Amino acid sequence: MTHKPISELTPEEARAEMAALAKRIAELDAAYHAHDAPLVSDAEYDALRRRNDALEDAFPQFVRDSSPGRRVGAQAADGFQKAAHRVPMLSLSNIFSEEEVVDFMDKIRRFLGMAASDEIEMVAEPKIDGVSFSAVYEKGELAGGATRGDGVVGEDIAANLRMIPQLPKRLAGDDLFESEVPDVLDVRGEAYMSKADFFALNAAAEESGQKVFANPRNAAAGSLRQLDARVTSRRKLGVFAYALGAYTGRPFDSHWAFLEALKKWGFPVNPEIRLCRTADEMIAFFRALSEKRAALPYDIDGAVYKVNRMDLQRRLGFVARAPRWAVAHKFPAEQAATRLNAIRIQVGRTGALTPVADVEPVNVGGVVVRHATLHNADEIARKDIRVGDSVVIQRAGDVIPQIVSVVLEKRPENAPPFVFPSVCPVCGSRALREGTEAAVYCTGGLVCPAQAVERIRHFASRDALDIEGLGDKNIELFYTLGWIRNVVDIFHLRQRHELDLLNLDGWGQKSALKLFDAIERARAGVPLDRFVYALGMREVGAATARILAGHFESWAQLESAMKRPDAREELMRIEGIGPVMADEIADFFREPHHREILDRLTALIPIRDVVRASGGTPLSGKTIVFTGTLSGLTRDEAKARAQAAGAKVASSVSAKTAYVVAGADAGGKLETARELGVAVLTEEEFDRLLDGTGK
Ligand code: IVH
Repeated sequence: MTHKPISELTPEEARAEMAALAKRIAELDAAYHAHDAPLVSDAEYDALRRRNDALEDAFPQFVRDSSPGRRVGAQAADGFQKAAHRVPMLSLSNIFSEEEVVDFMDKIRRFLGMAASDEIEMVAEPKIDGVSFSAVYEKGELAGGATRGDGVVGEDIAANLRMIPQLPKRLAGDDLFESEVPDVLDVRGEAYMSKADFFALNAAAEESGQKVFANPRNAAAGSLRQLDARVTSRRKLGVFAYALGAYTGRPFDSHWAFLEALKKWGFPVNPEIRLCRTADEMIAFFRALSEKRAALPYDIDGAVYKVNRMDLQRRLGFVARAPRWAVAHKFPAEQAATRLNAIRIQVGRTGALTPVADVEPVNVGGVVVRHATLHNADEIARKDIRVGDSVVIQRAGDVIPQIVSVVLEKRPENAPPFVFPSVCPVCGSRALREGTEAAVYCTGGLVCPAQAVERIRHFASRDALDIEGLGDKNIELFYTLGWIRNVVDIFHLRQRHELDLLNLDGWGQKSALKLFDAIERARAGVPLDRFVYALGMREVGAATARILAGHFESWAQLESAMKRPDAREELMRIEGIGPVMADEIADFFREPHHREILDRLTALIPIRDVVRASGGTPLSGKTIVFTGTLSGLTRDEAKARAQAAGAKVASSVSAKTAYVVAGADAGGKLETARELGVAVLTEEEFDRLLDGTGK
C-alpha cells in the first residue's frame, strides 16, 4: 500500500485512514495473540504500526480509546492466557554457607542409605538471576511456552519466547539425530538481560522520561511478560537452558548428558558449568564463581548444585516444591549503612503488630531500599534499635531487607529506647502478647479495620484468589466506603455498587469492567489449596494449605472433619502439621463468624477437589504409617515413594489408616494397628504394592 505523505493529508482523509488502520491492526492483533497465527509478516505489521503512530502524532484530535496506540497498554494490563505445565516447574531450596554444602551432601547420602565415603557426582552451575521459562517443542518445533507461575500453571508467553533469537525455533541436529526427534521436549531455563543491555535500556528510558528498571532481572521480567510480543523483540534477551520438563525421547543417564544434548539441539548452555565429585570441589567452584561474578556479562546470584545421575535424582524425588537432588547456594547478602528515620507499626490480617523501619533511601547491591522489617518487639529490644540510629541494612535476594546491627558510636545523644505500643495504632484496642509468642496482637479482632483490610487483601492476593485490580489501595478505598467489609462482599460489588464505582474519581467503564471481570474469574472456581490459603488462618501459609488440601481432597471433607470434636487430633495425625498449627486451624473453624462467612463463600464459589496425578494406583488416597526399621529403603525414601504413588503418610495409627508398614523392632504403632484391625504390611509387601503402581 502506498500512502500520501502525512503532511499532505486533509483532516478528513487522516480520520478515515486512522479508523481503517485501527480496524486492521485490531484484526491482526487478534489473529496474532489469540490464535497465534499471524496474518502478515512482522515487517508489514511494523510498517502499519509506524504509519499509525505518525498519524496519531500529527492528528491527536482523532485518537480514540480504541486507537492502536492506546490499546497496547490496556492489553498489557489485561493479563495472559494461562498455560498448565505438563510436569510441575519447581524451585530450589537455598543454602547460604559452605557448611551447608557438606550438610546437603550428607543428607542426600543418608536419604539414599549410602556410606559417608561414597562419592556422588554433582553438576555445579551458576544461578542465573533472570526469569525462568518453559519452552515446549513438539516434534522438534517450538510449539508453546510459559512462565513458571505457581509451578503448576504459568502464563502463556509462547509469542514472546519466539522473539528471542537465542532460543531455537526448531531443534538442531545431524541426520542421525533427526530420526530421534522427541515428540515432546519441554526445556526449562532462564531468560536474562545482560548488564550492558540493561544499562543501555535504562539510559534510553531515562532520556525519554520513561520508567527505569531496578535491576536486570526486573528488566528481563518486564520484557518477557509483554502482551505485545513486539516489545519483547526490541529488548535484547538472552537465555540459558538448564532443566528438563515433560520429555518423551530416549532417557538421559545423567544431567551432564542432558546438557550435552541441549547444546546439540542448539540451546545456549552456560559455559561455567562443571562436574564436581566432592563437597570440597563444589565449594571451590562456588569460590571461583564469586571471584568471577563481577566480570560476567550477566547477573548471577549464586551456584546451583545438581545430582548428576538421573536414577539417583528419581530416587531422591521432591519435597513440597523443590527437588531433594538440587540446591541453590546463594551469594552472601549485600549490606549498606543508612539512618533509621522512623519506626512504624503495621497491623496484619491476623492482628499481629509488625514494626517496620523507614530508613534514609540507600542503594544495597543495586536496589534502592527505603523500608526494612524489624520482625517484632523482642528483636528491637535485643538489638536496641532506636529512631535516629545509624544502622546496617542487609538484603538477600528477594527477601525483605533487614536491619543487621546498630552503629552505637554514631547514636545521637538522648535517643530514647523504642517503646512498643500497648494499643493497636489503627483501632485503639489493647495489644497483647499471647502465651510464649514473640508477636503482639491487636485484640480488636473483627472490629479492627486494619485486620479486616489485610484479610481481604490476602484473600484477593496472587497466591490466593488472584483477583487482579483488588490491590492495597482499592481495598482500603472500598472498605472505607463500606462497600467491601468482608471477603463475601467482593462478590456483590458489581450488583450493589456498579454505578457508585463508575461515579468515583479515577474510575471509568474500562477499569470497572476489568475489575468485575477479575472478580468473575475468581467466582468461576478455585482449587482447594488456594482457597484454604486464602482464608488467612494463622500459621497456614501456602505449603500448609497444600498439605491440608492433599489430605482432605475436597472442601466437604475438610469442613466436616473440622466440625467433628476430634478435629484437632485428626489434624495432628497429618504429616507436617504440628500442635500449634492444629490448634489454630481447629480454632478458626470453631469460630461462629468464620463458619458463617465460609458458608456464604462456599455457596458462591465452586471449590475444586484435589485431583491426584497418580489416581487409580493401589495407594492413591490411602493413609499409610511406617514403623520400625526398614532394611531396603531409608524411612525418608519410603515415605517419599509412598507419597509419589498418591498415598498420604501419617505419623500415628487410627481407624482411617489403610496400611501400617512394619520394619524390624516395630512397637506401639504395630500394636495399635492390630487392635484396630488395620492391614499390616512387611517391607516386601509394601515394595510389591509400589511396583504395582508402576513407580
Ligand atoms: S534448576 C528442578 N538451574 O532459580 C530444578 N534453576 O531459585 C529447577 N535458576 O526457579 C531449577 N539458574 O528460575 C536451575 N542453573 C540453574 C538456575 C536456576 C537460575 C532459577 C530458576 C529457579 C530458581 C530457584
